[in-house]
Amino acid sequence: MAALKQRLAATAAPPDAKISHYLNVIENSSHKMGLLIDGLLTLSRVGRREMTLYPVPLGPIVEQAIALIQDLPEKDRDRVQITIEALPMVNGDATLLEQVFSNLIGNAVKFSRDRTPAVIQIGQRAADGAIFVRDNGVGFDMAYADKLFSPFQRLHKSAEFEGTGIGLAIVNRVIHRHGGRIWVESIVGQGTTFYFTLPAESTPADT
Ligand SMILES: Nc1ncnc2c1ncn2[C@@H]1O[C@H](COP(=O)(O)OP(=O)(O)OP(=O)(O)O)[C@@H](O)[C@H]1O
Ligand SMILES: [Mg+2]
Repeated sequence: MAALKQRLAATAAPPDAKISHYLNVIENSSHKMGLLIDGLLTLSRVGRREMTLYPVPLGPIVEQAIALIQDLPEKDRDRVQITIEALPMVNGDATLLEQVFSNLIGNAVKFSRDRTPAVIQIGQRAADGAIFVRDNGVGFDMAYADKLFSPFQRLHKSAEFEGTGIGLAIVNRVIHRHGGRIWVESIVGQGTTFYFTLPAESTPADT
């Protein structure tokens, strides 16, 4: 694509606004397609990858997943407040669990983009031991809550919130392979909490 653009620039003809517009459209679409293919590859890998189950402390896994926050522009670092409460030790695959948190925290950051401060909380609920990732972002209508865990289901416009709709499908698959359960609670305009369980003695399911 870059080569094509260079070549065009090198020709004697004056730059044509229409051509460069279409070139930009093509470039954007192919970038999006690249992200989509990466997502699908990850989803398929997550399904097939052999799991190595060890006792894993979730605290450090979350810390690693939050390294993703470092991509935030300088001005956003103070705006986004992430708190990590005490997290348990689970029996799981560390690499896959890190993917769960990076997707959930990535979503929490993305969908609380217009909040100051964006408050993101990661912890374990006392009542039932469920692990949660909570944000005070835009939320969504609970009527669609079950759909979100299937690939390509998105409730927000790409123009507003970019994404391919693969992240939660990956999260869902990882949790189910660990023999756990995942669900979500959300209130439009107030925020969203994702909950999941990871049985201490996990039996991998073949989903
Ligand atoms: N924390 C959240 N707050 C509000 N809506 C959410 C949140 N997490 C997910 N959603 C909704 O669920 C949809 C699916 O989420 P998912 O992570 O699968 O896709 P994505 O973030 O749009 O794209 P990708 O993760 O592939 O980059 C989102 O597009 C959004 O509409
Ligand atoms: Mg996502």
